Amino acid sequence: MKFSALVDRVRGEGAAAWRTHYQAVAAHERGEDVIILSVGDPDLETPAPVIERAISQLRAGDTHYLPAAGRARLREAIARSHARRSGQAVSAENVVYLAGAQNALFVSSLCLAGPGDEVVTFEPLYPTYPATIEVSGARLVRVPATAACRPDVAALAARIGPRTRAILWASPNNPSGVVLNEQELEVIAELARRHDLWLIADEVYAGLAPEGRVPGLAARLPDRVVTLGSLSKSHAMTGWRAGWLVGPRELALHAEHVAMCMLFGLPGFIQEAAISALDLAGEAEARIRSYCTARQARFAAGIAGIDCLRPLPPEAGMFMLIDVSATGLSGAEFVQRLLASQPRAACGCASPPTRARSIAPAPACGSSASSCRKRCGPPPAPEPSARPQAAAYSRAARAAAAARRTRGARQAFFAGSLPSGVSLSIAVGSACDSFCARSCVFSPALAASWPSVPLPNTCCS
Ligand SMILES: Cc1ncc(COP(=O)(O)O)c(C=O)c1O
Repeated sequence: MKFSALVDRVRGEGAAAWRTHYQAVAAHERGEDVIILSVGDPDLETPAPVIERAISQLRAGDTHYLPAAGRARLREAIARSHARRSGQAVSAENVVYLAGAQNALFVSSLCLAGPGDEVVTFEPLYPTYPATIEVSGARLVRVPATAACRPDVAALAARIGPRTRAILWASPNNPSGVVLNEQELEVIAELARRHDLWLIADEVYAGLAPEGRVPGLAARLPDRVVTLGSLSKSHAMTGWRAGWLVGPRELALHAEHVAMCMLFGLPGFIQEAAISALDLAGEAEARIRSYCTARQARFAAGIAGIDCLRPLPPEAGMFMLIDVSATGLSGAEFVQRLLASQPRAACGCASPPTRARSIAPAPACGSSASSCRKRCGPPPAPEPSARPQAAAYSRAARAAAAARRTRGARQAFFAGSLPSGVSLSIAVGSACDSFCARSCVFSPALAASWPSVPLPNTCCS
């Protein structure tokens, strides 16, 4: 049987970029000790009043069809929140409530570009961008990053041509954590005016930036800017699929039509919960910001001193890039080998470790891997083929794991991947704020070759 051309456009390179992620998910589903770090899904809980609101709405029968653009009260609340954040005067008519910022990007993509058109974006980029832009038939054109991992706006003009319809960026960026500054935005604004372009500002991580704001162009260029947002990151609500686009009214109308054929409205009980979430945005954003700050600092400390790994601290957001170019591997190769280098079978622990201060193997504690709340266990068999990079893998894995560890019982594992380049990203926003020495995943052979690393803190006691 034949399929449409669309199936090839959405398959794309994004799928390859997620390879390590899917392997880690599969390992986790087999019961192995794995925590997924490749997606920006905070391990915090959704704020209780939001959950309570959803439950009470469900009980009250808020389970029927709703307008495709979202309930008016919610659209008004989103408009108020956007106006506060951006300084742009908007009303409910500028807003379409959608199933996450991802869905908002998809809808924008379909409304703003089509076959033969081009959308320009900056490296490094969120892996779903290529397929989500190219689903419409348009082509995604990439502008390289500078050495400091910032968008190379000097190279932007050369990428813009008669086919260009829009410039897309995420600020804070996933995965670099870069927040576009006023000078960079000014270059973008000037090119947008000159070439009559749409500007798609993905601000899904804006709540994680200082004071919950990022510099933007929405107030200055209200007829061109489409802002994408959601509650996923700021409120730890990834699974609720609550997001939106804010843009000119005409675009909102077209987006509503797409939403009508695609979704036919979204659940009312979640929309009411989203209103509650927006009411407590200040508090929720402060919570995730403080978690990310602590975890990023601890993760950077954890890999400090590994010669071939260089952390690139983010300005904001929940990711941290590590430059792995000194290993001679690409980011994708590095994470593949990192995953392969780490034993992660059931640990059969016998006794809890004390607060570990070095990376030497700890005594065993006796629980199974799935119930072991302590980062301990019998050391696995030595790896005969330990390469020089193995210590780097192990320490990176351990640092990521420590940064990610939740209150739960899981061992941590690391699985991040970028489609190209030499870096990899780690979701540190999903981490605990304690540093844990997880000696059970390291072989004695490797442990012997590591320096004794004093850890800034531990969480094994
Ligand atoms: C840059 C970026 N945009 C959009 C999304 C999708 O977010 P949402 O859960 O709101 O669909 C993500 C999720 O990781 C992201 O990193």
